[in-house]
Amino acid sequence: MFHSRALLLALTLTVLSFPVRPATAAGPALAPRPWLDSSLSPDSRADLALRAMTRGEKLSLAFGYLGTAMPDRHYVPPPQARPGSAGFVPGIARLGLPPQWETDAGLGVATQRSSLYAYRERTSLPSGLSTAATWNAALAQKGGAMIGAEAHSSGFNVLLGPGLDLVREPRGGRSFEYAGEDPLLAGEIAAAEIRGIQSQHVIAVAKHYALNDQETGRNVLSANISAAAARESDLLAFELAIEQGRPGAVMCSYNLVNGVHACESQWLLDRVLKGDWGFQGYVMSDWGAVHSTVRAALAGLDQESGYVFDSQPYFGAALSEARAAGRVPAARLDDMARRILRAMFAAGVMDHPIDGASAAIDFAADRLVAQADEEQGIVLLKNAGGALPLPRTVQKLLVIGGHADRGVLAGGGSSTVFPVGGNAVPGLPSPGWYGPELFLPSAPLGAIMGRAPQANIRYLDGDDIAAAAREAAKADRVVVFATQWAAESIDVPMTLDGDQNKLIAAVAAANPRTVVVLESNGAVLMPWLGEVAAVLEAWYPGSGGGPAIARVLFGDVDPSGRLPVSFPASLDQLPHPVLPGTGVPDKQSFAVDYTAGAAAGYKWLQKHALKPLFPFGYGLTYTRFRYSGLRTHVVGGQLTVSLTVTNTGNRDGAAVPEVYVGAASGGWEAPRRLGGWSKVMLPPGGTAAVSIRIDPRLLATFDEAHDRWQRPAGTYHVWVGESAASSELASEVQLPAWSHEARWSPPAI
Ligand code: BGC
Repeated sequence: MFHSRALLLALTLTVLSFPVRPATAAGPALAPRPWLDSSLSPDSRADLALRAMTRGEKLSLAFGYLGTAMPDRHYVPPPQARPGSAGFVPGIARLGLPPQWETDAGLGVATQRSSLYAYRERTSLPSGLSTAATWNAALAQKGGAMIGAEAHSSGFNVLLGPGLDLVREPRGGRSFEYAGEDPLLAGEIAAAEIRGIQSQHVIAVAKHYALNDQETGRNVLSANISAAAARESDLLAFELAIEQGRPGAVMCSYNLVNGVHACESQWLLDRVLKGDWGFQGYVMSDWGAVHSTVRAALAGLDQESGYVFDSQPYFGAALSEARAAGRVPAARLDDMARRILRAMFAAGVMDHPIDGASAAIDFAADRLVAQADEEQGIVLLKNAGGALPLPRTVQKLLVIGGHADRGVLAGGGSSTVFPVGGNAVPGLPSPGWYGPELFLPSAPLGAIMGRAPQANIRYLDGDDIAAAAREAAKADRVVVFATQWAAESIDVPMTLDGDQNKLIAAVAAANPRTVVVLESNGAVLMPWLGEVAAVLEAWYPGSGGGPAIARVLFGDVDPSGRLPVSFPASLDQLPHPVLPGTGVPDKQSFAVDYTAGAAAGYKWLQKHALKPLFPFGYGLTYTRFRYSGLRTHVVGGQLTVSLTVTNTGNRDGAAVPEVYVGAASGGWEAPRRLGGWSKVMLPPGGTAAVSIRIDPRLLATFDEAHDRWQRPAGTYHVWVGESAASSELASEVQLPAWSHEARWSPPAI
């Protein structure tokens, strides 16, 4: 596990050398412990506990261990760590403060890949992009609550997710963990996940802060972007997630930002996160992302994670010495401990303790939560001639490829959730610590058979392309499953793996009624798009993937996902047609110049008048919607948009009216920004009135020199579309000037 990161680490240290392990018996007397009174506020409780703590105890809270043994480094985790877990921070028994048991991550309860441990078998949500593709915050919250509850039942009180780095780089190997390319969508979906996780008394961790947008060179690259552009894009996603979700922690990332390591960036941590946004939780480092003691401590890092990943333990003994020498003030150490305590009290970690033994988990119920998420996350990209839904009366159906007879693909790396029932396709070769490819045992084939029991359904693995084409010619309908595997610590080309493009082209040539189901990290190129009848993007479908895909294929549910990322038509359309860092020797630093500034994804494409394969926000349905009655309302200088949406088709379906805004005078990073949306389920003929409040920051630009959002008075465009590239309705509105300090957040409704 983590071998790519291990290469960066020179020292071999053992846990036993850390001199400030917490006092368990020593220290002031046991009672009273007023901070355990749950009627007090988290702030009061944190203050009370802090006052009772010794310096060693404060230092111990700021130092986390890897929870998994690493024999090659002679590392053994503290005995109380959960076997095969990501992290562990000792508790302080005399004060009644439990340890922090940390696990990955945003899709469910992971186990570190290591031959030393049995994997925890847990429920996996579909990929983060699938959840974002639901455009349904309520569903995202339910998913968060499900994985939070599994975490708690598994003995964890810190869940190291969700991830919400903007998907600026479609080849980024962790796109599947994230929530798309738009700050509003990513921020709102992540906020909902955070609320769900923390509802289960488990601290959620928003990560990776910030601009950790590609895996190639992630430890050494510097993401270079103007402060204002960052505030309007990647940082805005975090700002929204933090203000709406209130995560207990934020994880600073591996990369550098404008030449400074993210975990020692005073600008990112102290000024923006804690200052401007008033973040009250704590900042923990990514595993191996700390490079200094005093610089990191003074910049705002509160907890070093995952010892032995850093090249030396920068907090722990070194922080103790820096503190004693006055290089780190007492107030800063107090602030670290207080923030951690406050997050624990706020999430209810002390009031809902974990007993250590795994509690029973209702896997059948949890799988349905994952399935519901996937059912709304699947995006129908093409549907020529009403090829979908498949008729239940289909006679001869051929299913090909993607191991659809056994399961659905999952992404690799620290986020991998090992499924109940084990890997459905064991024995695939592993390219690195982050693999091998893992398939969750939720087979689409079985679920398809269940929906059309009368049909003659055959499965071919697709390895023999000629044979697949021959059989396709004899079938009434063909469904080809195609996969693209991605993982933490690698980036991937924007193509399907192996010979799958050839397979699809050959099958489509033999049978025009070919449907393609993609299980991909994110956007892929589709050279065969013109030849196939239909395409569904199913992302990494999660533990309920098989039935979800089958139900959408047969129309038991209307496809209601909308793309949370653009699908570019070619690499030339990207801000970096060649992936930054390509050809740079391992460990040699390089810059990723964010020439796009705040114009990530569709904003870049629109600014340069580039037509993608499929635009952000796009997704077909089996029904049709009409939008009407667009009105703008300006109250107290703030814009609200209202409209009516009607289901004009003959099936149930979910409309997603997307509101885009633009400045008539220009001056923005792009012509349009997503300003809001709504997701409305409607029966045939059903109508709903929708009202969407536009956050004024989405109508403003950030003025770094004055640390303010600024919106000049003037004319602003409002569009309602079914994607970033469409306008079903359009209007203009006059808005007064609005200017507010960086610390602005919307008043509670
Ligand atoms: C990843 C984090 C993860 C941590 C602990 C790192 O490699 O970047 O997302 O939480 O490991 O496993």
